[in-house]
Amino acid sequence: MSKLKIAIQKSGRLSEKSVALLEECGLKFPNGGGKLITECTNFPVEILFLRDDDIPQYVEQNVAHIGIIGENVFLESQKEIRIVEKLNFSGCRLSLAVPKEIEYEGLDFFNNKKIATSYPNILGKYFKENNISATVEIISGSVEIAPGIGLADGICDIVSSGSTLLSNGLKEVETVIESQAVMVSSPNLEAEVQEILNKLLFRIRSVQNAKENKYILLNSPNNQLEKIIAILPGMNSPTILPLAKEGWSSLHSVIGEDKFWDVIDELKQAGAEGILVVPIEKMIL
Ligand code: PRP
Ligand code: ZN
Repeated sequence: MSKLKIAIQKSGRLSEKSVALLEECGLKFPNGGGKLITECTNFPVEILFLRDDDIPQYVEQNVAHIGIIGENVFLESQKEIRIVEKLNFSGCRLSLAVPKEIEYEGLDFFNNKKIATSYPNILGKYFKENNISATVEIISGSVEIAPGIGLADGICDIVSSGSTLLSNGLKEVETVIESQAVMVSSPNLEAEVQEILNKLLFRIRSVQNAKENKYILLNSPNNQLEKIIAILPGMNSPTILPLAKEGWSSLHSVIGEDKFWDVIDELKQAGAEGILVVPIEKMIL
């Protein structure tokens, strides 16, 4: 029996959430103790814990069939791999930053300057597109200390909360790319492995849909039902059940998490009572 080999980050910004996503998909596996490889007990999957920067190469060489990495690492790697799913977590940006006391007035600042980064490919392309001629100093870690020790005039690195920049006396001045966690795959998977991947993707999408939606229950006077249904941008026609209280019904539906706050006042004005909004664990479309 073939197994789908998934590479995830061993430790770093993506690791915990990658493990959580696989667990939410129902995969059970021993995790911890610094193991570099582990097998799922209830799904034909093997998980490899690797340095995120190495994952594109492993996936290209089919050592791992798929991987979870930042889009930034995917773009920088320039490997023959493809994105199969954006995962909606670990959002961040790759940005240019300079010492905070600099009066920054625009991209021209970077002409003839030295910029330290672990992302020479992405940054080189960005400078080229913007006609900036700068020296790109490639370093593989702790990029943020480069200006302070006189190695560079600025840096180009991942910014998430911004606290790394702040604590190193730097300020973000340009966004080069936006990034988030993505699932990447080898271009050629054997049929059996592809089938396992399809099953996993189905589960991932169900988990993601569930996160984006809430289950809503409310009580409505019967003569207001139509109005209330019109307010709810539900996915299907809602379920309506009679209440023991004469002339009232209970209405159940699904609502986009981001839409809910927009319609709550309208619902109340239309006479809805006892509104409950509850999380959905899985949502199969
Ligand atoms: C990035 C970057 C900073 C940090 C920024 O590292 O190099 O160290 O995250 O985050 P903050 O804005 O929340 O402080 P990344 O997670 O990509 O780690 P890696 O380069 O070691 O893989
Ligand atoms: Zn890394």
